[in-house]
Order: sequence, then C-alpha cells, then structure tokens
Amino acid sequence: MTETTRAVIAEGAGGPEVLRVVSRPRPEPGPGQLLIEVRAAGVNRPDVMQRQGNYPPPPGASEVFGLELAGVVAALGEGVEGFAPGDRVMGLVHSGAYADWAVLDAAIAIPVPEGLSMAEAGAIPETFFTVWSNVFERAALQPGETLLIHGGTSGIGTTAIQLARARGSTVIVTAGSAEKCAAATKLGADHAINYRETDFVAAAREMTGGTGPDVILDMVGGPYLQRNIELLAPDGRISQIAFQQGSKAELDLLPLLMKRGTLTASTLRARPVSMKAKLARALTENVVPLLAEGRVKPPIDSTYPLAEVAAAHARMDGGQHIGKIVLLMNGEA
Ligand SMILES: NC(=O)c1ccc[n+]([C@@H]2O[C@H](COP(=O)([O-])OP(=O)(O)OC[C@H]3O[C@@H](n4cnc5c(N)ncnc54)[C@H](OP(=O)(O)O)[C@@H]3O)[C@@H](O)[C@H]2O)c1
Repeated sequence: MTETTRAVIAEGAGGPEVLRVVSRPRPEPGPGQLLIEVRAAGVNRPDVMQRQGNYPPPPGASEVFGLELAGVVAALGEGVEGFAPGDRVMGLVHSGAYADWAVLDAAIAIPVPEGLSMAEAGAIPETFFTVWSNVFERAALQPGETLLIHGGTSGIGTTAIQLARARGSTVIVTAGSAEKCAAATKLGADHAINYRETDFVAAAREMTGGTGPDVILDMVGGPYLQRNIELLAPDGRISQIAFQQGSKAELDLLPLLMKRGTLTASTLRARPVSMKAKLARALTENVVPLLAEGRVKPPIDSTYPLAEVAAAHARMDGGQHIGKIVLLMNGEA
C-alpha cells in the first residue's frame, strides 16, 4: 500500500487546463469508513461546475475532485461490519474520487454485482442515487405512468430511461440531436423529441393523448420552468435537479394549482450520510437486482486514464457524449 495517492485538484477556476494531478498523503479511514483502492471514478456535470468555480465542495470535504467511485476495499475503519478487504464496492463520496485511494462511508457502499466491470460500477452511484431520490421517491413515479426526461442522453437521463422502463413506466425524452434521440430510444425510451427541431410541449402532449406526462425530470430550467408546468398532467410532479438555462424566470403558477401539481427540487451532494445511506439501502433492494440481471447497465461513452483527466473534462464540455465518461486508475482496463 503506497503512503501517497495521486489526486486531481484545480488550480484556480476555468477550463479543463486548470486541473492538476498532484501527490497527497493517502487518506485514512475514520470510524465507519472503508479505505478504497479506487479503480474507476465517474465524471459528472457537477464536477465541471466545481472546476468552473460554481459548485464548491461542501464544508469539511476535500478539494479533490470526484463524487463517485468503484474500487476494492483495502482496509476497514473502526466499527465497520459487513465488508472485508478485497470486496468490490461502489459508492458516493462528498469529494475525493479522482484519486488512487479514497475513503468511503461503509453505510453508502454498495457491493458491485458480478458481471459489472469496474468502469461500469464507477459510472453508477451519482446518477442512480440522484434518479432514485428525485424520480422514484420525491416525484413518486408509478408503474403505468409517463415520465418525460429532459437531457435524455445525459448520465442522469440514460439512468432514468432504463430504471423507469424496467419499473413499468412509459418514457419520453428530449435531446439535442437525431443521434442522441436514436441512442435514447435504443436504451428503451418510447419516444424521443429533438428539441432543436420540434416543440417539446406540443410533441409530448400528442404522445400522451393530450394528457401530458405524470412526472417531468428537468435539468434545464430557465424557459422550461413555465413550459413544464403547461405540459404537466393533472396531479403531476416536476422534479427539478439543475438549471442549465438559469434558475430565474417569471412564472405563472396558476396552472400548477389548477392541475394540483407538485414542483420539487433537490441536490444530492450536501445531504447527510444518514440520508444517502437510506438511498443506498433502497438501491440495493430495488436496483442492484436489475444490474445483476443485466437489465440495467450504465452506457459508457468513453474512458480515460486518471492522468488524462483534462481530456475527460474536455469531452464533457464538448457536450457530444452519450452516457457516462469514466476515469480509470490502478491499471484498470
Ligand atoms: N440535483 C442533483 O442532485 C444532481 C445530481 C447530479 C447531477 N445533477 C445535474 O443533472 C444534470 C445532468 O448531469 P450529468 O452528469 O448527467 O450531465 P451530462 O451527461 O453532461 O448531461 C447534460 C445534458 O444536458 C443537456 N443540456 C446541456 N445544456 C443544455 C441546454 N442549454 N438546454 C437543454 N439541454 C441542455 C445535454 O443534452 P443535449 O445535448 O441533448 O442538449 C446533456 O445531455 C446536470 O445539470 C447536473 O448538474 C443534479
């Protein structure tokens, strides 16, 4: 076990060129934590926002990038039960996944099912925790209902398509190109709308026989806020997880009232370990079996060695990716 770890930090705020791979002391697992030899870490849009200086790590979290990882348990902190050195696990961290070594709260660690590669496992936690929490818990999507996902080929979108289909919902997505629409339908979406060519409100209304979707998962915000309310089905729920076109808009909320609609919004990173642990248990029960059976699988857009982290971020900045971008460490192929 080396005493140091490679770790990715940013020198200032800006483009991918501000990212640096530096050497740091290997972290020590505290009570209830696992020391992980990291094999894979997913790249997420919030990492890009952190690099740009718009999403600082929560108080107490390190400046090392990375919100999700998969790896091998190397040592146990005090009081940890149920895990042993050598176990393959995946999980969420407040920060620190872009590194050779990281610590992970055992309560949030999920065993990696056989048949999943480390690259796939490292691409799971951030989007699966987010989608489970926002679509299935907060917005309470039910089998037989219709879900509209904006950003259908994002890491979040590709996860939401597969989970909603596997649980018996109809899925409509919006995406910004014909290629992305085709990828979304290949993953299981029933309908895909190229929002650059087609008005998504009119199209989704027609696809739902005039009723509108029961749940809308939105990461766009701005002008979409009013349009989502306009489109939503009676008793529908809108789950807001980001504002890529801005968090400010003048809204007429009367249609939301008339439809008895719900607007919910949340962010995952700053939530306490106890809440993430509850989500980990729900995922273990409801989603790990789907992963183990191969019914759900994170689509991997591309992988990069840790040393090429700037290229991985440039790929995300370019916006052409479909599914997840993953960093690989420790010789993982
Ligand atoms: N609240 C939470 O807890 C939470 C947790 C994780 C992620 N998120 C948010 O969820 C979003 C997706 O994250 P990710 O890691 O999956 O990112 P990602 O793979 O980079 O996906 C971003 C998607 O947004 C679409 N998009 C980008 N700019 C847009 C614009 N101006 N208008 C409409 N669509 C636009 C892109 O699709 P097109 O090319 O089709 O436009 C792309 O598919 C991010 O905004 C992230 O911050 C929130």
